[in-house]
Amino acid sequence: MASLYVLLAAVVLVILRSLSTARSRSQRAKSLGCLPVNKYPHTHLLGYDLYRARLKAVLDGRRNGFDRELFANYGATYQERANLSTIINSTETANFQAVGATQFQVFGRDTRRAAAPFFGCGILSMNGPEWKQTRDLVTPLFKRAELLDIEYFKKYVDRLFALLPLDGSTVDMQPLLQKLFLDSSTEFIFGESIDSLRDTTTKSQDFLQAFNAALAGAGKRLNMGGAFSFIYAFDKSWEKSYTQVHAFIDGRIKKYYEKAAEKEPALEGSRRRYVLLDGMVKHFPDPVELRFQLLNIFFPARDTSAILVSNALFLLARNPQYWKELRQEALKIQDEPITFELLKGLHLFRYTLFEAIRLLGPSGQVRRIALRDTTLPRGGGPDGSAPVFVRKGTGVFLNNFPKMRDTDVWGDDIEAFRPNRFEGKVLTWEFTPFFGGPRICPAINQVISQSVYLLVRLVLRFEMVENRDECLEYIEATRMLVESRNGIKVAFHLDAT
Ligand code: HEM
Repeated sequence: MASLYVLLAAVVLVILRSLSTARSRSQRAKSLGCLPVNKYPHTHLLGYDLYRARLKAVLDGRRNGFDRELFANYGATYQERANLSTIINSTETANFQAVGATQFQVFGRDTRRAAAPFFGCGILSMNGPEWKQTRDLVTPLFKRAELLDIEYFKKYVDRLFALLPLDGSTVDMQPLLQKLFLDSSTEFIFGESIDSLRDTTTKSQDFLQAFNAALAGAGKRLNMGGAFSFIYAFDKSWEKSYTQVHAFIDGRIKKYYEKAAEKEPALEGSRRRYVLLDGMVKHFPDPVELRFQLLNIFFPARDTSAILVSNALFLLARNPQYWKELRQEALKIQDEPITFELLKGLHLFRYTLFEAIRLLGPSGQVRRIALRDTTLPRGGGPDGSAPVFVRKGTGVFLNNFPKMRDTDVWGDDIEAFRPNRFEGKVLTWEFTPFFGGPRICPAINQVISQSVYLLVRLVLRFEMVENRDECLEYIEATRMLVESRNGIKVAFHLDAT
């Protein structure tokens, strides 16, 4: 009986304490001028109604469009429930800037991660001083690599070109570009390419399958939220896939140490490509820690650039007049040595890539969690212009896709592919496909210069590109990122006549 009274007293205490916290939060919110944020009208207590509707949109190949509708219906900032968590979704520039820069310290990555066995601890999962230490190490490594990168990237582009049909027959560029960037990024990160463009065995394909399965398993667990991920406790297939990925990276690390012991350069040639593993090994002597750090860089590198160039080709094949314009610009510089600086100055190429990102991505959500009670500058009140109070633990999901179709910023023809809309535009937080602030993508310059280089080579080689996909629309396939479900089916012509 006594223990029942103790239990009752504890319950009462918890209730009183949470009432008092709620009261002081509400006073604080009032004093900060915060107003309530619009809420999604859930019909299910744990928010499964919206979860199911999103899943259907994903299966229908229209996840981005569905998100856009949600923002149109419930406001540019609205709140939803996902299991036991509260999430504030926003597509407002001011909120991007607050989360990414002005209140950067308050919004961190969610470290209670159901997917931790796969991703471990690395730049993507860390916050605070731990993250800063890794970031300070990684940023100069990317900067140093940028300057030397193109001559090494060229080798992979040559290999891709050897696979392109010259007789005007149809080719799906999406898988080929995935292989190209996979080969180049594995060399950049691990010092040895997976060589998928030349692989006649199933080795690279097996690795990719394991990686995709590991990602899918991580995605399922993350979507269920940490509290419910126990439902996958008996599913051992995920462990099998991520162990295969870990073994691949561990193998690369082992080889690195073997080569270092033999004092053998990791690559042929007088100027070695700058390799991330070289720069990281001194700072992470523990091989397991090093594995997770490398995986945290390899994961965002894997398909992103390939999807970007694929999307640019998707749009160019449907708007061939821009291919002509790019070719004219490239012909002007065809005899010059291609350097990082030269690529930086090719504005029309850069605008073409930006316009492809604006229309089709890849630039999914940036997800954060409030590390303490705080506010967001916009989203409160009937017109959404007041600040919003954000309780500690609330998820804040920033969505780039609707932001890149804001008519106030981009004009009325937002659905049109018009690269020169970027001309003379000074954009900061309005255009954030690589995010911004201290956590901006460290690979931004590498991605743009490699992609510009590849487009330059393509327009110089081929006078024309032709769409060979019967479906003109972009149907999405959503894995961790969104790509084209139908691939990028085109034909290249050496001669436009
Ligand atoms: C089109 C290509 C790419 C796009 C659009 C892109 C976009 C982004 C975005 C939006 C973020 C911020 C994510 C967040 O904070 O939640 C990010 C972070 C990151 N990206 Fe990229 N990325 C691309 C390619 C790459 C490549 C090729 C690499 C590596 C070689 C890379 C490495 C990273 C890393 C390590 C971070 C984490 C930075 C940190 O947390 O400090 N990305 N990227």
